[in-house]
Amino acid sequence: MRALVVYESSFGNTERVARAVWEGMRQRLPDAALRDVGSAPRRLPPELELLVVGAPTQAFGMSRPRTREDAQRQAGVDSPVPGIGVREWLRELEHPERPVHAATFDTRIHTPHVPGSAAVGAWRVLRRDGFHVSAEAESFWVLGIRGPLRDGELDRARSWGVSLVSLLSGPVGSATR
Ligand SMILES: Cc1cc2nc3c(=O)[nH]c(=O)nc-3n(C[C@H](O)[C@H](O)[C@H](O)COP(=O)(O)O)c2cc1C
Repeated sequence: MRALVVYESSFGNTERVARAVWEGMRQRLPDAALRDVGSAPRRLPPELELLVVGAPTQAFGMSRPRTREDAQRQAGVDSPVPGIGVREWLRELEHPERPVHAATFDTRIHTPHVPGSAAVGAWRVLRRDGFHVSAEAESFWVLGIRGPLRDGELDRARSWGVSLVSLLSGPVGSATR
Protein backbone atom coordinates (compact mmCIF):
# COMPACT_ATOMS: atom_id res chain seq x y z
CA MET A 1 0.00 0.00 0.00
CA ARG A 2 1.69 3.24 -1.16
CA ALA A 3 -1.23 5.53 -0.38
CA LEU A 4 -4.00 5.68 2.21
CA VAL A 5 -7.11 7.86 2.50
CA VAL A 6 -8.51 8.16 6.04
CA TYR A 7 -11.84 9.89 6.57
CA GLU A 8 -14.40 10.78 9.21
CA SER A 9 -18.01 11.55 8.36
CA SER A 10 -21.13 12.24 10.42
CA PHE A 11 -23.73 12.45 7.62
CA GLY A 12 -21.94 10.72 4.73
CA ASN A 13 -20.80 13.74 2.69
CA THR A 14 -17.10 13.55 3.63
CA GLU A 15 -17.24 9.81 3.04
CA ARG A 16 -18.49 10.39 -0.51
CA VAL A 17 -15.74 12.93 -1.14
CA ALA A 18 -13.13 10.55 0.33
CA ARG A 19 -14.33 7.78 -1.96
CA ALA A 20 -14.08 10.09 -4.99
CA VAL A 21 -10.56 11.21 -4.00
CA TRP A 22 -9.60 7.56 -3.58
CA GLU A 23 -11.08 6.65 -6.99
CA GLY A 24 -9.02 9.43 -8.55
CA MET A 25 -5.85 8.21 -6.85
CA ARG A 26 -6.52 4.62 -7.89
CA GLN A 27 -6.49 5.58 -11.56
CA ARG A 28 -2.72 5.85 -11.18
CA LEU A 29 -2.10 3.98 -7.93
CA PRO A 30 -4.20 0.81 -7.96
CA ASP A 31 -3.29 -0.31 -4.44
CA ALA A 32 -4.36 2.93 -2.70
CA ALA A 33 -6.54 2.14 0.33
CA LEU A 34 -9.55 3.84 1.93
CA ARG A 35 -10.35 3.60 5.67
CA ASP A 36 -12.88 5.08 8.04
CA VAL A 37 -11.06 6.74 10.92
CA GLY A 38 -12.46 4.15 13.35
CA SER A 39 -10.63 1.34 11.56
CA ALA A 40 -7.55 3.26 10.39
CA PRO A 41 -4.14 2.02 11.61
CA ARG A 42 -2.25 3.97 14.31
CA ARG A 43 1.02 2.78 12.82
CA LEU A 44 1.37 3.45 9.09
CA PRO A 45 2.67 0.65 6.89
CA PRO A 46 6.41 1.07 6.20
CA GLU A 47 5.88 1.29 2.43
CA LEU A 48 3.35 4.13 2.71
CA GLU A 49 4.31 7.28 0.76
CA LEU A 50 1.11 9.33 0.78
CA LEU A 51 -1.47 9.86 3.52
CA VAL A 52 -4.68 11.78 2.75
CA VAL A 53 -6.91 12.79 5.66
CA GLY A 54 -10.47 14.14 5.34
CA ALA A 55 -12.98 15.33 7.94
CA PRO A 56 -16.11 17.45 8.27
CA THR A 57 -15.57 20.92 9.72
CA GLN A 58 -17.48 21.07 13.01
CA ALA A 59 -17.42 24.12 15.27
CA PHE A 60 -14.71 25.83 13.16
CA GLY A 61 -12.28 22.91 13.09
CA MET A 62 -11.88 19.16 13.51
CA SER A 63 -14.72 17.46 15.38
CA ARG A 64 -14.70 16.85 19.13
CA PRO A 65 -16.80 14.39 21.15
CA ARG A 66 -19.35 17.16 21.84
CA THR A 67 -19.77 18.15 18.16
CA ARG A 68 -20.03 14.50 17.09
CA GLU A 69 -22.75 14.04 19.69
CA ASP A 70 -24.51 17.10 18.33
CA ALA A 71 -24.23 15.77 14.78
CA GLN A 72 -25.61 12.41 15.84
CA ARG A 73 -28.58 14.11 17.46
CA GLN A 74 -29.23 16.15 14.32
CA ALA A 75 -29.01 13.03 12.19
CA GLY A 76 -31.59 11.38 14.44
CA VAL A 77 -29.31 8.39 14.89
CA ASP A 78 -29.63 6.37 18.08
CA SER A 79 -26.38 4.39 17.88
CA PRO A 80 -23.41 5.21 20.16
CA VAL A 81 -21.46 8.34 19.23
CA PRO A 82 -18.18 7.43 17.47
CA GLY A 83 -15.45 7.55 20.09
CA ILE A 84 -12.81 8.72 17.70
CA GLY A 85 -12.54 11.39 15.03
CA VAL A 86 -9.62 12.60 12.96
CA ARG A 87 -8.44 14.88 15.79
CA GLU A 88 -8.05 11.93 18.18
CA TRP A 89 -6.65 9.63 15.49
CA LEU A 90 -3.93 12.13 14.58
CA ARG A 91 -3.04 12.40 18.26
CA GLU A 92 -2.47 8.63 18.41
CA LEU A 93 -0.80 8.29 15.03
CA GLU A 94 2.86 7.30 15.20
CA HIS A 95 5.18 9.83 13.63
CA PRO A 96 6.76 8.61 10.38
CA GLU A 97 10.38 7.55 10.50
CA ARG A 98 10.92 8.31 6.82
CA PRO A 99 9.41 10.93 4.50
CA VAL A 100 5.65 10.54 4.00
CA HIS A 101 3.65 13.03 1.96
CA ALA A 102 0.34 14.13 3.39
CA ALA A 103 -2.67 16.09 2.16
CA THR A 104 -5.87 17.10 3.93
CA PHE A 105 -9.40 18.01 2.94
CA ASP A 106 -12.64 18.84 4.66
CA THR A 107 -16.27 19.44 3.88
CA ARG A 108 -17.89 22.61 5.12
CA ILE A 109 -20.61 25.11 4.41
CA HIS A 110 -19.63 27.96 2.14
CA THR A 111 -20.62 30.91 4.32
CA PRO A 112 -18.85 34.22 3.78
CA HIS A 113 -16.93 35.44 6.83
CA VAL A 114 -17.28 32.15 8.76
CA PRO A 115 -13.73 31.04 9.56
CA GLY A 116 -12.42 27.60 10.40
CA SER A 117 -11.51 24.47 8.50
CA ALA A 118 -10.91 20.93 9.72
CA ALA A 119 -8.51 20.48 6.79
CA VAL A 120 -6.31 23.37 7.91
CA GLY A 121 -6.30 22.02 11.48
CA ALA A 122 -5.28 18.54 10.33
CA TRP A 123 -2.68 20.03 7.96
CA ARG A 124 -1.02 21.85 10.87
CA VAL A 125 -0.89 18.73 13.04
CA LEU A 126 0.59 16.63 10.24
CA ARG A 127 3.22 19.25 9.46
CA ARG A 128 4.16 19.50 13.14
CA ASP A 129 4.45 15.71 13.31
CA GLY A 130 6.95 15.52 10.46
CA PHE A 131 4.82 14.77 7.39
CA HIS A 132 5.54 16.53 4.09
CA VAL A 133 2.41 18.57 3.52
CA SER A 134 3.17 20.05 0.12
CA ALA A 135 -0.45 20.32 -1.11
CA GLU A 136 -2.69 23.08 0.28
CA ALA A 137 -5.53 22.03 2.59
CA GLU A 138 -8.59 21.61 0.34
CA SER A 139 -12.29 22.22 1.08
CA PHE A 140 -15.31 20.68 -0.61
CA TRP A 141 -18.62 22.42 -0.13
CA VAL A 142 -21.92 21.24 1.27
CA LEU A 143 -25.15 23.23 1.05
CA GLY A 144 -26.28 22.59 4.63
CA ILE A 145 -25.31 20.78 7.82
CA ARG A 146 -26.52 17.42 6.50
CA GLY A 147 -25.48 18.15 2.92
CA PRO A 148 -25.91 17.62 0.08
CA LEU A 149 -22.62 18.35 -1.61
CA ARG A 150 -22.65 21.15 -4.13
CA ASP A 151 -22.96 20.04 -7.75
CA GLY A 152 -19.61 19.13 -9.24
CA GLU A 153 -17.79 18.53 -5.95
CA LEU A 154 -17.35 14.79 -6.49
CA ASP A 155 -15.77 15.43 -9.90
CA ARG A 156 -13.51 18.03 -8.33
CA ALA A 157 -12.58 15.53 -5.59
CA ARG A 158 -11.74 12.86 -8.17
CA SER A 159 -9.48 15.28 -10.07
CA TRP A 160 -7.83 16.36 -6.83
CA GLY A 161 -7.14 12.67 -6.06
CA VAL A 162 -5.50 12.22 -9.47
CA SER A 163 -3.34 15.30 -8.90
CA LEU A 164 -2.15 14.11 -5.47
CA VAL A 165 -0.45 11.09 -6.97
CA SER A 166 2.04 13.41 -8.65
CA LEU A 167 3.44 14.13 -5.16
CA LEU A 168 5.03 10.68 -5.27
CA SER A 169 8.50 10.54 -6.70
CA GLY A 170 8.72 6.97 -8.00
CA PRO A 171 6.94 5.48 -11.04
CA VAL A 172 3.16 5.09 -10.78
CA GLY A 173 1.02 2.74 -12.83
CA SER A 174 -2.31 3.21 -14.51
CA ALA A 175 -5.25 1.00 -13.58
CA THR A 176 -6.97 1.83 -16.87
CA ARG A 177 -4.13 0.83 -19.19
C1 LIG B 1 -21.98 20.27 15.38
C2 LIG B 1 -21.68 20.82 14.01
C3 LIG B 1 -20.91 21.96 13.87
C4 LIG B 1 -20.63 22.47 12.58
N1 LIG B 1 -19.82 23.58 12.45
C5 LIG B 1 -19.51 24.04 11.21
C6 LIG B 1 -18.61 25.14 11.05
O1 LIG B 1 -18.06 25.71 12.01
N2 LIG B 1 -18.33 25.57 9.78
C7 LIG B 1 -18.87 24.96 8.69
O2 LIG B 1 -18.58 25.38 7.57
N3 LIG B 1 -19.73 23.91 8.81
C8 LIG B 1 -20.05 23.43 10.04
N4 LIG B 1 -20.89 22.36 10.18
C9 LIG B 1 -21.40 21.70 8.97
C10 LIG B 1 -20.49 20.53 8.61
O3 LIG B 1 -19.32 20.98 8.01
C11 LIG B 1 -21.25 19.54 7.73
O4 LIG B 1 -22.18 18.91 8.56
C12 LIG B 1 -20.29 18.53 7.11
O5 LIG B 1 -19.53 19.12 6.11
C13 LIG B 1 -21.04 17.38 6.53
O6 LIG B 1 -20.12 16.36 6.32
P1 LIG B 1 -20.45 14.86 6.79
O7 LIG B 1 -21.70 14.47 6.07
O8 LIG B 1 -19.30 14.06 6.32
O9 LIG B 1 -20.58 14.85 8.26
C14 LIG B 1 -21.17 21.84 11.43
C15 LIG B 1 -21.93 20.67 11.60
C16 LIG B 1 -22.19 20.16 12.86
C17 LIG B 1 -23.00 18.90 13.00
